[in-house]
Amino acid sequence: MPMTDPAGLRRGYARGSLDEDTVAATWLEQLQRWFADAAADPAVVEANAIQLATADATGRPAVRTVLAKGIDERGIVFYTNYESAKAEDLDANPFGAAVFAWLPHERQVRIAGPVTKVDRAETEAYFATRPRESQIGAWASPQSQVVASRGALDQIVAETEERFAGVDIPPPPHWGGYRITPESVEFWQGRHGRLHDRIRYRRDGTDGWCRERLAP
Ligand SMILES: Cc1cc2nc3c(=O)[nH]c(=O)nc-3n(C[C@H](O)[C@H](O)[C@H](O)COP(=O)(O)O)c2cc1C
Repeated sequence: MPMTDPAGLRRGYARGSLDEDTVAATWLEQLQRWFADAAADPAVVEANAIQLATADATGRPAVRTVLAKGIDERGIVFYTNYESAKAEDLDANPFGAAVFAWLPHERQVRIAGPVTKVDRAETEAYFATRPRESQIGAWASPQSQVVASRGALDQIVAETEERFAGVDIPPPPHWGGYRITPESVEFWQGRHGRLHDRIRYRRDGTDGWCRERLAP
């Protein structure tokens, strides 16, 4: 099969614009608007997916997709294994960056800031809403560890199902939420001729935020 040359892929962006007159007063309101657009459009698969970047103690970065499960004035919450590679990064270097890439809308939103564990009560409340098989998965998967085989993983799942047969499943102690507390949130809308719109909300001081346009 002939190789597909990525240099030959080219699209113009013309679906929208972002300007100072219509952009929301706060990053949260603007994110809620765009998230609502994304979630309502079947062309956007997993509208709550974010690519999350962390870095280890030596500054070496890693990135992976997780699902945002909370968006409010405090920040963006995702759930994961507290013994995973990303958790190890966050223990050593408690900062992260994430991007919502809503490509069918020619939009991305970038968020960066410190990352902290959410309250246990918040994790428990969210965990209770998960399907039982996802609850089992959280107990069974030693996330980011090398496993001998698929069969070995299936065996742990079977043992976990047996252990919790007939009872409610609590969240594992090694599993829970993290919150990215934004220090900056940048909204990007693709425009003609690569002259895209970028508007960034940036925390300047303890409570204050400023809004600024960035060159594309
Ligand atoms: C669409 C999608 C959603 C995902 N959601 C999550 C999630 O919410 N939490 C999670 O821990 N991993 C999620 N993953 C798996 C992660 O990308 C990753 O494989 C896993 O968290 C291990 O990452 P780490 O080894 O860097 O810690 C998701 C993957 C995809 C593709």
